[in-house]
Amino acid sequence: MKRLTGPFTQILPLTGLPLKGPLKDSQLQVVSNGWILSNNGRIIAICTLERLRRDHPSAQIEEVMDERVVLPGFIDCHTHICYAGNRMQDYALRCAGKSYGEIAEAGGGIWDTVTATRGASEETLTELLVRRADRHFSEGVTIIEVKSGYGLSVEQELKQLRAIKAASYITKAALVPTCLAAHIKHSDFGGNRGEYLELISKELLPVIKIEGLAKRVDIFIDNSAFTTEQAIPFLERAKSLEFDIIVHADQFSAGGSSVAVEMGAVSVDHLEATKDRDIKMIANSNTAAVALPGASLGLGMGYAPARKLLNAGACLAIASDWNPGSAPMGDLLMQAAVLGAAEKLSAAEIFAGLTVRAAQALRLDNRGTLAIGAPGNLQLYPANDYREILYNQGKLKPMMKSV
Ligand code: NIG
Ligand code: FE
Repeated sequence: MKRLTGPFTQILPLTGLPLKGPLKDSQLQVVSNGWILSNNGRIIAICTLERLRRDHPSAQIEEVMDERVVLPGFIDCHTHICYAGNRMQDYALRCAGKSYGEIAEAGGGIWDTVTATRGASEETLTELLVRRADRHFSEGVTIIEVKSGYGLSVEQELKQLRAIKAASYITKAALVPTCLAAHIKHSDFGGNRGEYLELISKELLPVIKIEGLAKRVDIFIDNSAFTTEQAIPFLERAKSLEFDIIVHADQFSAGGSSVAVEMGAVSVDHLEATKDRDIKMIANSNTAAVALPGASLGLGMGYAPARKLLNAGACLAIASDWNPGSAPMGDLLMQAAVLGAAEKLSAAEIFAGLTVRAAQALRLDNRGTLAIGAPGNLQLYPANDYREILYNQGKLKPMMKSV
C-alpha cells in the first residue's frame, strides 16, 4: 500500500554526500515543505504534495502535525551494551584521580564487568541489552553495533553473542554483532596473551562462523590489552575466516591504527592519541575512522582529532562507545554535538558521521539515507530548521516513525 506522509518543514535525505573528506552544510540537500511517498516500508519519492498526488493518486495520505525536521535514523557503529552490572565505583575512582589503566591494573575496570557478565544468564543479558537498545532507538538510533568482549572465554563469549542474537529479534533497533573476545586476556586464563588469542582464533571464531553469530571481529590494541605483534596473526586468522576486522586503536598511545590500516580493517576506532603520520595513512585508505566522544567525556580525556582526519580526507563516523566503563552515558546525539563544538565540525559532517559514514564503517549498503529504496525509518524533530538539532546539543529529542 502506497503512503504519503507529511508535510515536513525540512527533509534531509542525506543522499549524494561523498563518503570521505570535509563537508559543508551547503552540500546538504534540504527538501522544504516536502512529503514522503513510501510503499511497504521503503521510500519511493520525496517531493511536494501536489506532484506526488498527481503521479500517485491512489496513495493513502497520512498527515503529521506540528513542524518537523526529518532525518534518517542514526547508526551507532560502536557500542558495548551487552553487559551486566555497572562501574560506578571506577567512575568515582577516576574522578578522585586514578587513571583507567591504574584501575584495570588493580583488578577493576573491564574485569569487573566480565565478572558481572559471566554471572548473568543469557536471558538476563538479552533483557538488559533489549532495554538499552530500545532506549537508543527512542533517541533516534535505528541501527546499533553491539560487541561481545565481557565473556573472555569460548563459552562466555558465545553466551554474549547468543544474547545479542536473541535481543535482535525483540528490540526495534537493528543490531550488528561483533566479536570482541580480544578485548583483554582474562586473569583466569592459564597462558600468555598470545596463547589466549590463539585459543580464541582456533576454538571460538569457527563456531561463530558456523552459528552465524557475527561477521565482524574486533581487537583492543593497547598496553593493557594486546600488542601490535600479538594482534597481527590474530587479525590474519580472522580475515582468512572472512570476518571483517576492526581495531580499538590509539586510545592511550599511538601504534594500533597503522596496523589496522595495513591489515585492511573496515574501521579503526578511538584515535584519541593518533599521530599526524597515521592520520594521513587512515585518510588514504578504505578504513573508516570512528571517533568516540562518549569515551573522552567518560574518561575526562581529549577527543579524537576529527577535524584533522576530515581535512586529510578520511571517512569519519561518530559513535557512542556506550559501555559501563569508559562511556556510560550512551547519548549519541549529545556526544556528537559536543564533539562538533570542540572539533569545529559542520552539521553535514556530523550528520554524515552518524548515518552514511557510519554505514560505511559497518559496510552496510543502502543504509543511513532516505534514498529511493531505503527503509523508511525516520526521525522527526520538533524544529523548523535542521540546525536547531545540534544547537540544542542533544536536548531536542526525536519522535520515531516508520513509513
Ligand atoms: O572502547 N577501550 C577498550 N574498551 C572499551 C571500554 C570497555 C570498558 O571499559 O568496559 C572502550 O572504551
Ligand atoms: Fe569500545
